[in-house]
Amino acid sequence: MNANIATASYIGATILFILSLGGLSNPETSRRGNLYGMIGMTIAVLATVFGPRVTAAGLPWIVGAMVVGGAIGLYAARIVKMTQMPELVALMHSLVGLAACLVGFASYIDTSIAITGAEKSIHEIEIYVGILIGAVTFSGSLIAFGKLNGKIGGSPMLLPGRHWMNLVGLLVVIWFGGSFINAHSISDGMTPLIIMTVIALLFGIHMVMAIGGADMPVVVSMLNSYSGWAAAATGFMLSNDLLIVIGALVGSSGAILSYIMCRAMNRSFISVIAGGFGTGGGGTPAPKGDAAQPAGEVVPISSAETAELLREAKSVIIVPGYGMAVAQAQHTVFEITKLLRAKGVNIRFGIHPVAGRMPGHMNVLLAEAKVPYDIVMEMDELNDDFPQTDVAMVIGANDIVNPGAQDDPNSPIAGMPVLEVWKAKTSIVMKRSMASGYAGVDNPLFYKDNNRMLFGDAKKMLDEVLTALKA
Ligand code: TAP
Repeated sequence: MNANIATASYIGATILFILSLGGLSNPETSRRGNLYGMIGMTIAVLATVFGPRVTAAGLPWIVGAMVVGGAIGLYAARIVKMTQMPELVALMHSLVGLAACLVGFASYIDTSIAITGAEKSIHEIEIYVGILIGAVTFSGSLIAFGKLNGKIGGSPMLLPGRHWMNLVGLLVVIWFGGSFINAHSISDGMTPLIIMTVIALLFGIHMVMAIGGADMPVVVSMLNSYSGWAAAATGFMLSNDLLIVIGALVGSSGAILSYIMCRAMNRSFISVIAGGFGTGGGGTPAPKGDAAQPAGEVVPISSAETAELLREAKSVIIVPGYGMAVAQAQHTVFEITKLLRAKGVNIRFGIHPVAGRMPGHMNVLLAEAKVPYDIVMEMDELNDDFPQTDVAMVIGANDIVNPGAQDDPNSPIAGMPVLEVWKAKTSIVMKRSMASGYAGVDNPLFYKDNNRMLFGDAKKMLDEVLTALKA
């Protein structure tokens, strides 16, 4: 493939990626968006592998690596459960970071790049910044992976003087950046480069370890953004325009998503980057046990009684959460929805921006079950409607319906906007036990007078409710 065809293919791929992002902004066009992305990526890979910069000797290596990597990716994609997707995504972000680091070191020791003067300095800055972003992304994403799959505990690790440590780390990185650029030989430059890499790796670990459970969504989307900038940095190092463009698209869309997440969590973006938020103003999470147990009584309800309440209701709001994903209850939820709608009940879904374990988690599940988009509303669209609602049915959600976020300034989730289900005439919470959610805090909702608990696996309980409704 000659250079002109490769360039034209790159432009075509770039347009497809932009169309893909546009498509992904709306559930109805998201399938098409995904398709554009896949076609764009196929064109990009073919134009790169068969493009002018790959020699005949290098081709078997690339194809071999693609076969091995593709097989692992295919296997992982086939076995991963929907509830494990966020971990898989975090792991993939870490690979982008690792790639940026490896490419950085490889281009630094590559003596075939014959450049001097300003061009050489610019290339070295690209390498230094590329490895810096790559290393933070790599270690931060690995810790996020551990936190998301429960291998690392959700509570924040708050080292004394952590902000000072970050600041000193940053100054040291800048100082070593100077010695790296001024180094006279590759071996001279290697020491500052390695020291900076170690500091960046430690910073990535520290940044994510310091994040409290409920605030992980912001970190996940932020690492998504970092992985984009790491890819863009790799593009600069390799002088690959397409990689720069794609990296910038991922980086900026991830940054916008992080901003949306911050707004949804009512957090400041700077405090996310500095780490250690989600801890109720820097303290330790609220104590658990009897001392912290909210006042009131927990009142259980049966599935038959739940069906009765739903049958009599004129308006119902369903609030799905992570437990619906675990139980895979979305199809039964829709069966119940259809039945109630046929009886004239005004039934809608309330989606919290951080429900589940990844952005859009609930929307994906409901779309899979073919729930019409026009009854799936965002939190802000229906939070005012709860007082006029007969039944608010919470399916496997916990943190996102916790009134403590509004009432308890010491709660780790204080200030996070929540769905105000307790304002409905009756709220029913469907979960297996009194266990806390991802943030690890007690939920006073369970003890409110107008709340009922339907204990059990969400799918099993909803099947029973459906049977009772049909009877
Ligand atoms: P959670 O607060 O985690 O609560 C989920 C509840 O589902 C649990 O309390 C659990 O209680 C219940 N559950 C689990 N399996 C179940 C099953 N099979 N049947 C019925 N119930 C089941 O979830 P949420 O309300 O969706 O809030 C999301 C949380 O995750 C927030 O804290 C958020 O910050 C965090 N987070 C979100 C993201 C993104 S991007 N969305 C990423 C990382 C973290 P039982 O064990 O008693 O059943």
